[in-house]
Amino acid sequence: MPATPPRTPRGTPRSTRRSTPRSTPRSTPAASARSTAAARPRTVLVTGARGYVGSRLVPALLARGHRVVATARSTPDASRYAWGGQVEWRTMDALDPRQVAAAVEGVDAVCYLVHALDRRDFVELDRLAAETMRDAVDAAGVGRVVYLSGLAPDQPRTLLSDHLNSRIEVEEVLAESRASVTSLRAGVVLGAGSTSFEVIRQLASAMLVQPVPAWLTSRIQPIAVVDVVDLLVHALEHDDDPVGSVDVGGPEVLTYTELLARFCKVARLPRLQLPVPPVPTPLVAHVAPVFSTAPAHTVTALVESLRHDMVCRPERAWGLPGVATPVDVAIRESLRRRGSEEFAAQRATACDAAWTDRRTPVERLTRVPLPLPASVRVTSNIVEHRARGALRAVLGR
Ligand SMILES: NC(=O)c1ccc[n+]([C@@H]2O[C@H](COP(=O)([O-])OP(=O)(O)OC[C@H]3O[C@@H](n4cnc5c(N)ncnc54)[C@H](OP(=O)(O)O)[C@@H]3O)[C@@H](O)[C@H]2O)c1
Repeated sequence: MPATPPRTPRGTPRSTRRSTPRSTPRSTPAASARSTAAARPRTVLVTGARGYVGSRLVPALLARGHRVVATARSTPDASRYAWGGQVEWRTMDALDPRQVAAAVEGVDAVCYLVHALDRRDFVELDRLAAETMRDAVDAAGVGRVVYLSGLAPDQPRTLLSDHLNSRIEVEEVLAESRASVTSLRAGVVLGAGSTSFEVIRQLASAMLVQPVPAWLTSRIQPIAVVDVVDLLVHALEHDDDPVGSVDVGGPEVLTYTELLARFCKVARLPRLQLPVPPVPTPLVAHVAPVFSTAPAHTVTALVESLRHDMVCRPERAWGLPGVATPVDVAIRESLRRRGSEEFAAQRATACDAAWTDRRTPVERLTRVPLPLPASVRVTSNIVEHRARGALRAVLGR
């Protein structure tokens, strides 16, 4: 069954730099989750709670008075999370029907944040996991499911990358459930620790001269992680607002090249963008992982989606008043260092994937911060990452 259109589109963010999805006029002004009093407390299951979005969503739900059940595939070290002791942890491999059934037991709503993009066979795995969740939700009579999906252009499915096709397939599988299901489709999520953002940060930082392929003109509508969290919280608190598949994005539409330049500007990195002749996307997809410490299959999958415009479709755009963090502000937030006074849930946290750690190997060993340029910092981490990979290959593990 295809994902149904939203019943309550609230319009795109307030302003865009290009001729982008202009707002459908906002219907009844709903205050954002940031500003309103908490709705009736619910028991919310956050799957993938240790992941980038999940680890930021959990404290937001707790702050709103909800009870949170958090899943992890292995026993978590609860002390790594500021909120680790305030949730009920349940072990759940999304491919194990018994564990999934146990995870959804007694919850009012499920936030589905599982994906296996770091695996070559992610399409198959993500479909199976979604089917398992759909069946468990129906068996337990859960009323609400919210999934964070990916923005995709209105194109025949055969033309979409595996990555975007898979996001939509998961939406469709979940939508077959009897629960009220909403998929929020987001593009690049801006924030320290977000895979797509970290890849941009690493490329921007490491390369003093940035080759920009002529075909890299796709438009994107990135969104700040704080906004994603607000929208997820709202959707988890309201069974019918929104319903179906809706697009969420920040207030600006730009190209990847412009986003790279914006990052450099905000981070004060003097870099030169050099137009280069067209290079086949598959070649870029296989070379890009060399310049990042992110999981190779994830980078390849993301790069294969670069050819698509990822902007909100006007008729499907959804947002909330006051939830439209400007791109520059989101980038600035992401640049705050770990352990700084401003350390907060939406910034890099101790629970982020190890590869997002920006300290150099020397800084990690000595615990002494060094005044290094970003290019040296990122390059040394990439070199260390490659050396570890080579060592593991030699040792056969
Ligand atoms: N970050 C972005 O830029 C972005 C943009 C648009 C949409 N999204 C979507 O948002 C969702 C969350 O993204 P994220 O950035 O938070 O991802 P993430 O940090 O990579 O986290 C993924 C989570 O999936 C869980 N997972 C993977 N396989 C699993 C399995 N077999 N069983 C149970 N859990 C499993 C992992 O659990 P463990 O911790 O237990 O291993 C992990 O916590 C995804 O659906 C993604 O497509 C993200």
